[in-house]
Amino acid sequence: MSVTDRRQFITLSAKAFLAAQALLPLLAGCSSAAQNAPAAAPPLLTWEQLLARLRQLSEVQFTPGWDQESQVRDVEAALRIADLDCRQVRDFCATYKNSRGDFPEIRVMHEERSFQISMLEFEPGEAIPLHNHPGMTGVAFCMEGEVEVKSYDPHGDISNQRLWLKPRPTVLATPGLAVTLTATRGNIHSLEAKRFTRMIDIFAPPYSRDIISRCRYYAPLGELNAEGLLETEVRLSPPTKST
Ligand SMILES: [Fe+2]
Repeated sequence: MSVTDRRQFITLSAKAFLAAQALLPLLAGCSSAAQNAPAAAPPLLTWEQLLARLRQLSEVQFTPGWDQESQVRDVEAALRIADLDCRQVRDFCATYKNSRGDFPEIRVMHEERSFQISMLEFEPGEAIPLHNHPGMTGVAFCMEGEVEVKSYDPHGDISNQRLWLKPRPTVLATPGLAVTLTATRGNIHSLEAKRFTRMIDIFAPPYSRDIISRCRYYAPLGELNAEGLLETEVRLSPPTKST
């Protein structure tokens, strides 16, 4: 199977998986009388409907008491019932070019006042080292491939040049699965693809000049210590493989 065929096969498999997931709540809610009738698959959200839903969910950031956990859960649920094999996504995927060598391609698909959608495309082995998303929520939805996501919470004063990080469980994201973060939970993370991987990331708020000025990378200074903490050096740019 060629690489193109393989990617098409994976995409189709992901679509079938998503459609099956979208059916589960319907099947669970069937009455006994309805169980004999064939269940019609609920229509998947179109791209425009997905944007409208994300707009609605992301606007809550401008209201007092923004519940970020609830927001990322709802964004993930919307992605699960969206048609990500639509023309808009397929056209965007078709323009993918591996031009960065050893770093995934990160392309903005859509941006507005309250959120942005980015697409991440990893060649096998490509990785994004430990970094943060200051003040943001994020939902990284795996469309195809396999990516290992290691997430951490800061442990101590985040203004320190050296920062201890407390690890969260590592997640292996596969098609149909999402990894979420909030401003205070799992905001620092790294990603490493095991094979060609394509993810859609929903960030709220979108990147701004202020947010970008507060973005940092974290270079590990060793392994986890006896307390299970990782000491890192805070940097403005990604550490190279030799550092
Ligand atoms: Fe990230």
